[in-house]
Amino acid sequence: MKTVFSLEPIRKISSELRKNGRTIGFIPTMGALHQGHLKLVKESKNKNDVTIVSIFVNPAQFSPTEDLDKYPRPFEQDKKLLEQGKVDYLFFPNAKIMYPNDFQTYVTSNKLGNILEGKSRPGHFSGMATVVLKLFNLVQPTNAYFGQKDFQQSVVVKHMVSDLNLPINVNVVPTVRDKEGLALSSRNIFLSSQERLQALSLYQSLLLGKKLISEENKNVQMIKTAIKNYLQEYKLICLDYIEICNPKNLSPVKIATNKSVILIAAYAGKTRLIDNIII
Ligand code: PAJ
Repeated sequence: MKTVFSLEPIRKISSELRKNGRTIGFIPTMGALHQGHLKLVKESKNKNDVTIVSIFVNPAQFSPTEDLDKYPRPFEQDKKLLEQGKVDYLFFPNAKIMYPNDFQTYVTSNKLGNILEGKSRPGHFSGMATVVLKLFNLVQPTNAYFGQKDFQQSVVVKHMVSDLNLPINVNVVPTVRDKEGLALSSRNIFLSSQERLQALSLYQSLLLGKKLISEENKNVQMIKTAIKNYLQEYKLICLDYIEICNPKNLSPVKIATNKSVILIAAYAGKTRLIDNIII
């Protein structure tokens, strides 16, 4: 695996590959890699000639009160995992070259960016979409891979690709969970053992919602109440939102169907966790 630190070399590599008719699979990440990220790598390896992963902890998607400085950065370990996953190129730029002093242009999703996660984390999706567009422009992949775990993120990216006519296929890969059902996340290392144990209730509550819907309880208000009641038993879990939405545009539905998605966000202690399930 070759590690590339700056902009021109990654452009050149991508342009050579495309000139030779090779397909490029791209996985943008913020590092602290786990089996969820590696599943995206596997998908890319299966479908593309060359796989490029980026690691960049993007300051633009963190608010001043969030954990940018605390975000884990185990670079050597990440590199080893990507080498084992037979990734061809690692793009590892620093914040100075991605955001020079006079940087001032941002991508904004007017509707999708302000609901759910966007409501709780103002500016997050603008920062995310901006860096993803920059990375897409540098890497110019054939296929890009995103996890279902960050469902709203994948919808925002798909919308950006469509709105801005980017010639890139966005692929969404199912959430990888540990054997007890907790969605893998780089932030899970912040959980105490008690918090981790109680965090298992998030996926359980989603399974409960799915069960209710498949048993013909289509009333969204009733399902949301059942989920809230279930979570109330877990004292270390503080619910931020639970919504049942149309998976294409994330607008809330009144009647749940087998095409809806249940989205949840909660704090386990101080750690913010998100999860979702497609019915
Ligand atoms: P990061 O949190 O590092 O995640 C990188 C990719 O891995 C995202 O597409 C995310 O959805 C996916 N992923 C994370 N946990 C997963 C899991 N348990 N199962 C499957 N996929 C999982 O998301 C970001 O970084 C950033 O916002 C980024 C897109 C890189 C832009 O900065």
